[in-house]
Amino acid sequence: MTEPAAVKQTVSVRERIIVALDVENVAAARDVLEELRGEVGAFKIGLQLFTAAGAAFVREVAESGVKIFLDLKFHDIPNTVASAAVEAARLGVWMFNVHALGGAEMMRRTVDAVNEVCERENRTRPKVIAVTVLTSSNAETLTEVGIESPVENEVSRLAKLTADNRLDGVVASPHEIGLIRETVAAKDFMIVTPGIRPINATNDDQKRVMTSAEAIAAGSDYLVIGRPIVQAKDRVGAVNEILSNLGSDIQ
Ligand code: C5P
Repeated sequence: MTEPAAVKQTVSVRERIIVALDVENVAAARDVLEELRGEVGAFKIGLQLFTAAGAAFVREVAESGVKIFLDLKFHDIPNTVASAAVEAARLGVWMFNVHALGGAEMMRRTVDAVNEVCERENRTRPKVIAVTVLTSSNAETLTEVGIESPVENEVSRLAKLTADNRLDGVVASPHEIGLIRETVAAKDFMIVTPGIRPINATNDDQKRVMTSAEAIAAGSDYLVIGRPIVQAKDRVGAVNEILSNLGSDIQ
């Protein structure tokens, strides 16, 4: 195995699976939650479900004791993002994210605001992570928006900016883990990786995938997995299959 990743020592592999609740309404989300609650570590609520179901649903699920990663990728002026982050903390989510492209001040003020509200209101502080470059972006996409440097340079620059501004980690392609670990020395810097596919599974629209075992071996702390679990006929079976492929040496 590689160097210990941020949570490797203390968190079981099962708890390191985050299921993406990419469904269109509350009923479908409840269905997945009922089936998989207790089987995985956390659930990710992104733009689709948040827009359909709203903040009240996030609060209700979080208050029921389920860990929620609120994946809304905040990117706005520092004051707006910091204020939204305070409300995310008040919803009781376990983790939320911002775009590192929002810059140092946006990230710093977000972390400060979250720390302050959690202390003042005696709340558990959510983890704050950043997206570096979306995995759907390539060199051409970056050139379109005026960024001429290679994707890898952007990923390491933004990962460093994220760490320098005291965020807890990044969302990244599993292929970028090595680069990020080289750039950011802190062992507790979390890397959360989507783009995970079981061996022999369809890739859907993900272009650069890894199996969960490969991603964990490369140093991923948390695996975000959507369709391979949510669209399986037997969701618990799909989770257990992923866990059995991971083996016991990394529990
Ligand atoms: O279904 P699948 O396993 O591809 O779902 C992956 C989830 O991770 C989706 O919710 C997707 O939006 C999200 N994600 C991603 N790549 C990123 C950031 C988030 O696939 N760079």
